Amino acid sequence: MNCSSIQPISSSSRACGPARSIWSDYEPACGRGDRSGLGNGLTIASRLLSRGDSVVAFDVSAKALVECEAEQWADHRDAVLTMSGDVSDEADVYHLIDQALKRRGKGDVLVNNAGITGSQFASDVHTTPVSEFDKVMAVNVRGVFLGCHAVLPHMLERRTGVIVNVASAAGFVAFPKRAAYTTSKGAVMQLTRSMAVDDAHAGIRCNALCPGMIETPMTKWLLDQPDLRTQVLARIPQNEIGTEDDVAAAAEFLLSEGARYMNGSALVMDGRYLAI
Ligand SMILES: NC(=O)c1ccc[n+]([C@@H]2O[C@H](COP(=O)([O-])OP(=O)(O)OC[C@H]3O[C@@H](n4cnc5c(N)ncnc54)[C@H](O)[C@@H]3O)[C@@H](O)[C@H]2O)c1
Repeated sequence: MNCSSIQPISSSSRACGPARSIWSDYEPACGRGDRSGLGNGLTIASRLLSRGDSVVAFDVSAKALVECEAEQWADHRDAVLTMSGDVSDEADVYHLIDQALKRRGKGDVLVNNAGITGSQFASDVHTTPVSEFDKVMAVNVRGVFLGCHAVLPHMLERRTGVIVNVASAAGFVAFPKRAAYTTSKGAVMQLTRSMAVDDAHAGIRCNALCPGMIETPMTKWLLDQPDLRTQVLARIPQNEIGTEDDVAAAAEFLLSEGARYMNGSALVMDGRYLAI
């Protein structure tokens, strides 16, 4: 499992107003590689561990993995295997899957959760450096493709498997001045549908999870600023920010038998952000 990723709404109010200033200033607070916290990936893995599953957690931040092992996953030492690497690196991903299968024997589920928004320079199309666009697409799209590419042969052979790709509300609407991120999440949703269409015959389900605004290390810089937090809340009818537990609960549902007839779907959990 990589812990390291509805209808289009195009109301004109979405492209202007407070959201513009919020998203245009977006810059992750934590540099990759040495950051603390795994965001949604931590709670998804923890939830699977607490119900007795074995989990392989893969993230570019070795430090975050070590911290999770020592703190949140200390009671699950035998069940959790952590490996650091880059989801956009083909060799890293194949090594992970190879090791995971050797150590665990089989893989029933894959959660592609790793994702980045890009730096503050990843803005509207004409100002985004090509290298920034490539970086966001590499992690958010190539990373999902590689994880599935490596795992699907194994699932197809066993004629069973469930994949959850963490997309975003940005797969449905364009976040202002977040062209690369928006593009990448739209692509993740289409990748998800492709696999659902191509592999359903073999008993494989592949769905997308589309969170709205969730409080994680990714959004900490934004939500820690009271003015910006107020602006964000003003755009969410439910008037609350989602939690990592909300994402984990939705992921657990998509992985469960309760979702056995969902395939190629996008599960939105956004406090109705997309409705206005
Ligand atoms: N937080 C939100 O509001 C929100 C909303 C919608 C969707 N999402 C999506 O949820 C997913 C998780 O986001 P989060 O909020 O937990 O973010 P986060 O930044 O807290 O966690 C992302 C994780 O991905 C890892 N990662 C980044 N690049 C990687 C790479 N190249 N290889 C391996 N691991 C890598 C990071 O180290 C980090 O642990 C992302 O796909 C994100 O786009 C988040």
